[in-house]
Amino acid sequence: MQKVLFVCLGNICRSPLAEGIMLHLNDKHNLNWTIDSAGTANYHVGEAPDRRTIANAKKNGVDLSSLRARQFKANDFDEFDRIFVMDKSNLQNVLKHAKHDEHKNKVDLFLNVLHPDSHSEVPDPYYGTEHNFEHVFQLVYKACEEMRVKYS
Ligand code: 4NP
Repeated sequence: MQKVLFVCLGNICRSPLAEGIMLHLNDKHNLNWTIDSAGTANYHVGEAPDRRTIANAKKNGVDLSSLRARQFKANDFDEFDRIFVMDKSNLQNVLKHAKHDEHKNKVDLFLNVLHPDSHSEVPDPYYGTEHNFEHVFQLVYKACEEMRVKYS
């Protein structure tokens, strides 16, 4: 069993999408993983995911409507086995809270699951178009599916 936390900036676009897709795969494959997401910023705490993220995920068969944003906290290092961040700025902000190497070793860029050592980022669709939201969905879905195969 894995305890996985996904992290982005606002916790309303990329990381709740990863959480929702992973919850969907969790149900489909009876994984019994613990899955959550958080933002490094507090701008959207308590809010549902961005309506464009919800609409696009729904079109692709994933329901995100019950998720609510929260901020990343240092205690998350103790609660989770793996912490996947969406971009390098999130990586820096999360690592600032790490107290020792055991914490640091739990953190990785999410797309390294798909392309090891590529250090590529999930682009932020917040200022983009529907096309960007669809692109992010497909990318995050592929990485979630790879993660399921790799870690289950
Ligand atoms: P996320 O996208 O980090 O994928 O949730 C963003 C959401 C909101 C903002 C920035 C990025 N914002 O500036 O409010």
